[in-house]
Amino acid sequence: IERTLILIKPDGVERQLTGTILSRIEAKGYRLAELKQVSATRELLEEHYEEHVGKPFYEPLVEFMLSGPVVAIIAEGHRVIEGFRSLAGTTDPTTAAPGTIRGDLGRDWGLKVQQNLVHGSDSTESAAREIGIWFS
Ligand code: GTP
Ligand code: MG
Repeated sequence: IERTLILIKPDGVERQLTGTILSRIEAKGYRLAELKQVSATRELLEEHYEEHVGKPFYEPLVEFMLSGPVVAIIAEGHRVIEGFRSLAGTTDPTTAAPGTIRGDLGRDWGLKVQQNLVHGSDSTESAAREIGIWFS
């Protein structure tokens, strides 16, 4: 069965949307195999976001991810990687489709990094890599 790494980012935890987001994942039929609330470290985020190191939004992104606890989840289900990305919506919450987590609940306050509530692995390779980082 396929597995993916989902993060509820600090904006989701701070706004007390953890339950809402978890219920949307479960309502879609995915199983929550592992679940924990953690405070990330700079080192962990550097591994997680290695593809973005050096980009203009990298440093603000890391600061945002360090601004409060996150909820890390391993979700399981048929085509869950693709399915959760679809449920999350596109990266920019302003234009993410209504009906998606980011489209319905994400906010763009004009800050440097979009507060788009969730992360989901984008391939089987990323899922394996990211599960190893967050649940080692
Ligand atoms: P994740 O599921 O969080 O990985 O989002 P994604 O796959 O939709 O986006 P991507 O991996 O390209 O970028 C990771 C995160 O960096 C995004 O979720 C945003 O928070 C932030 N980000 C990405 N692109 C930009 C950008 O062009 N500008 C800004 N300010 N932030 C960005
Ligand atoms: Mg990504």
